[in-house]
Amino acid sequence: MSINTLNYEPLVYKPKVGMDVPLTAIQEEVLRLKSERNAIILAHNYQVDAIQRIADYVGDSLGLAYKAEAADEAVIVFCGVHFMAETAKIVNPSKTVVLPDLEAGCSLADSCPAEQLAEYKKKNPNTYVVAYINCSAAVKALCDVICTSGNAKKIIEQVPAEKDILFVPDQNLGQWVAKQTGRSMKLWPGSCYAHVLFTQQAIEKIKVQFPQAVVVAHPECVETVRDNADEVCSTEKMIVFCQQSAAKEFIVVTEPGMIHRLQREVPNKTFIAGPTDSCACNECRFMKMNTIEKLRDCLRELGPQIRMEEEIRKQAYIPIKRMLEWSK
Ligand code: 13P
Ligand code: SF4
Repeated sequence: MSINTLNYEPLVYKPKVGMDVPLTAIQEEVLRLKSERNAIILAHNYQVDAIQRIADYVGDSLGLAYKAEAADEAVIVFCGVHFMAETAKIVNPSKTVVLPDLEAGCSLADSCPAEQLAEYKKKNPNTYVVAYINCSAAVKALCDVICTSGNAKKIIEQVPAEKDILFVPDQNLGQWVAKQTGRSMKLWPGSCYAHVLFTQQAIEKIKVQFPQAVVVAHPECVETVRDNADEVCSTEKMIVFCQQSAAKEFIVVTEPGMIHRLQREVPNKTFIAGPTDSCACNECRFMKMNTIEKLRDCLRELGPQIRMEEEIRKQAYIPIKRMLEWSK
């Protein structure tokens, strides 16, 4: 095998015919419980296909935050990770918010403990803190404005010019948005354990195998990977990009759950999972903690629920509300 090829089979998703597979018994049960509970199911693009297919809405962090804010149902079932479900509770506190697995965390959120940020702010009182939404409610409560990968550029452009910005917790997204806006900012040294496993070398090798394919990468990837991509964007924008592009094949450099939605909404094209140096794809172990069985159980039991101190919630709502307004 040449040094230019990957030493494992790439994961290739060809155009699918007959996507309308019947619901399984457990999916039917989830839908019945959902209606009994007067619940809405919100799912992130990285969730397993069985969950995505029966969710009321599947999207990125920004779309999910708007949907959670607008939800009228008594219960929000959040199929994603903990900080996303927390955001739903912050923007719509009268609802019961449940998450199928309370242990579904996020390495990025963990890389910025609230006490460390509070300490930094004490030493640098004039800092304007912009937080990527992948952080805890306690961190959000210490920030001036929140952003997501979908609106980071728009948010940074609205931060008053005289402010010194600290961007937390993702140094890769921060570096990407700093380059795009020309705005210098200090970067918190956090990262996504999954996205940093994509390497320039692995992307170059898969490009040799699929020379016609267009590379789409998430901004949480490292700079050398982003520089090798034709498009860098949030998971939601990946859908629109692949729909509008004339290309027929795409290398998708993010969590492979993304490809379920791409296959449903861009059915006539081929998607190749972004590889790492040792694996054909790169699942987020936290996103994959939610299963269809746990989704059923959390609707049955109305738990585990997201709870937080009201004082933290109120403080965290301020920068989220600012983001939702600036992002319109
Ligand atoms: P998106 O907001 O682009 O969906 O990203 C969320 C995330 O956790 C990426 O790892
Ligand atoms: Fe967090 Fe990375 Fe998983 Fe996204 S993919 S939820 S940033 S650990």
